[in-house]
Amino acid sequence: MNNVVIKNVRLYGEGDPVDVLLADGEIREIGTDLGVIDAQTVDGAGQVLLPGFIDLHTHLREPGREDTETIESGSAAAALGGYTAVFAMANTSPVADTAVITDYVWKRGQEVGLVDVHPVGAVTVGLEGKQLAEMGTMAAGVGAVRIFSDDGHCVYDPLIMRRALEYANSLGVLIAQHAEEPRLTKGAVAHEGPTASRLGLAGWPRAAEESIVARDALLARDAGARVHICHASTAGTVELLKWAKAQGISITAEVTPHHLLLDDSRLETYDAVNRVNPPLREASDVAALRQALAEGVVDCVATDHAPHADQDKCCEFAAARPGMLGLETALSIIVETMVKPGLLDWRGVARVMSENPARIVGLDDQGRPLAVGEPANLVLIDPAAEWTVEADDLASIARNTPFQAMTLPAKVTATFLRGRLTARDGKIVAG
Ligand code: DOR
Ligand code: ZN
Repeated sequence: MNNVVIKNVRLYGEGDPVDVLLADGEIREIGTDLGVIDAQTVDGAGQVLLPGFIDLHTHLREPGREDTETIESGSAAAALGGYTAVFAMANTSPVADTAVITDYVWKRGQEVGLVDVHPVGAVTVGLEGKQLAEMGTMAAGVGAVRIFSDDGHCVYDPLIMRRALEYANSLGVLIAQHAEEPRLTKGAVAHEGPTASRLGLAGWPRAAEESIVARDALLARDAGARVHICHASTAGTVELLKWAKAQGISITAEVTPHHLLLDDSRLETYDAVNRVNPPLREASDVAALRQALAEGVVDCVATDHAPHADQDKCCEFAAARPGMLGLETALSIIVETMVKPGLLDWRGVARVMSENPARIVGLDDQGRPLAVGEPANLVLIDPAAEWTVEADDLASIARNTPFQAMTLPAKVTATFLRGRLTARDGKIVAG
């Protein structure tokens, strides 16, 4: 008996509560009078049911830095955060630039069984930006790579990027660009602006991101290819996306929860937990990113979950590694920054955290409507909950959350992968 009934839930937070029967990995029935059923019951307590979240941008650190995150610990963090699929970035050690690695990541994720861990393949060998990796063999492997990215590094050479886009187009896969012109960010650790100047931190100009976004939009146009912009962080990037989309260019973009909540005033303490690439920008950028996500100029939320060891974060700002944890706090931050101010309703949350990421990457078993016959990849959310972030309580091995001790709204109370409960009330449910 693997059937589950989720009782008393509001689909997309709308209308009267209903019961939802999950069987054989699908939504079998939705109604108020499902009769007596031999099934495990999950009390939905009138909470919000949405399609499970999909993260297009997660760093899981396996292979190579299992002291900071593994596919197992990262999968647990994802399930607790309401995710049913994540895309694990290629900047592991060794780099995921061959099918041996990308297939391993997929298989290990399936073994753990908490969330589908889709491998991201590197665009170039060793993320060095010099020679294209064997994208075709990675796409054809059991890991069936759908996203290629050198994330952490920019594919800065325009000719290599052009070839990557052409090649990706013929394979039907997506290039996700970490937009950073490296010649403009040499030594940079913080957003270039008054705060960095005052604090004596080397500045990272907006133009480092925007010049690559503009360039790649034009390259995608000429190649007739799609391009996806990772972690958009500036108001100028928003304007460029608007322009490119108006031209009919196939460009999509993601924004991180941290760029929607935090700005560079956080750097005043020199606490390196706030160091991230791209850097935290100014309040005006934050406002523009929120508006862009509400309007669909930025398509989706992606966490850029980036675990780092204490010794790499609890040190001088400029010596610290960039990156922050994100999987377990993402939903709450989207509620804080988008739902509470009235920029998104629950349908909007489903759109930016589930439906749009699934569409961008062509996953047909995720981000589906809450309807009979659809795959039962689901998340249950208590919209009235409040909780205080405590790094030591997170499932991630690393503890570098910038949201430590913040009280945030809304909590994931259950996650279902193909009809099976993976997380419930802050605990992993063993498979
Ligand atoms: O802050 C970041 N951390 N940005 C990146 O692009 C890479 C990531 C990491 O791997 O730690
Ligand atoms: Zn990146």
